[in-house]
Amino acid sequence: VNMQTEDHVPYVKDDQQKSCGKMQVLVGVTGSVAALKLPLLVSQLRLLPGVEVKVVTTEHAKHFYNPEEVSVEIYSDKDEWELWKKRSDPVLHIELRRWADLFVIAPLDANTLGKIASGICDNLLTCVVRAWDTSRPLLFCPAMNTAMWQHPITAQQISRLKEFGYVEIPCIAKKLVCGDEGKGAMAEVSTIVSVVKQHLQEPVKSS
Ligand SMILES: Cc1cc2nc3c(=O)[nH]c(=O)nc-3n(C[C@H](O)[C@H](O)[C@H](O)COP(=O)(O)O)c2cc1C
Repeated sequence: VNMQTEDHVPYVKDDQQKSCGKMQVLVGVTGSVAALKLPLLVSQLRLLPGVEVKVVTTEHAKHFYNPEEVSVEIYSDKDEWELWKKRSDPVLHIELRRWADLFVIAPLDANTLGKIASGICDNLLTCVVRAWDTSRPLLFCPAMNTAMWQHPITAQQISRLKEFGYVEIPCIAKKLVCGDEGKGAMAEVSTIVSVVKQHLQEPVKSS
């Protein structure tokens, strides 16, 4: 990756860039079937005025969407390690946390939920979370099978994330892709987009 080219946005985001009214939204995607909706989510977010989008993906999430249907840059673990060769090179997860005004993780699967709740950062996405400036909004959209959802650890981990100041976009009940019916499905894309919009309109707190 070369983040220095025109549309790769510079490493350091300064206040000047902020004042031009552009809002930079980072979408995190993890290995839930709801990752199928990534292309739709990205295209809907890009319809918001002044919004620029980038994606950070886990390896398992890649199984569910076609990158050709996603019209923005998608970063994954390989990029993180390829970008850094020597001391002066940028560290991708730090560049991304600087770049983003808002981080929305949609879907957030059970595995990554557990990792975030306990501070584990073993891939690009969880490193961005671990390095996140908590004065900026971090929204998360859980998505998992009903049985996973009902496990008592889910509620504990979700409350932990809320204690960190992250915002839950709650899952909904519906017939899941696996055939089970009940709570655990990711919120509708339209809901996610409207919550993102709401948080972008709030004044950005300085870090
Ligand atoms: C077809 C399929 C669908 C899956 N859907 C979900 C899901 O909706 N929610 C979830 O929490 N895990 C789901 N998983 C399990 C995760 O992919 C698995 O826990 C994986 O390790 C997650 O890795 P990641 O968090 O790094 O993306 C699914 C797995 C498969 C094979």
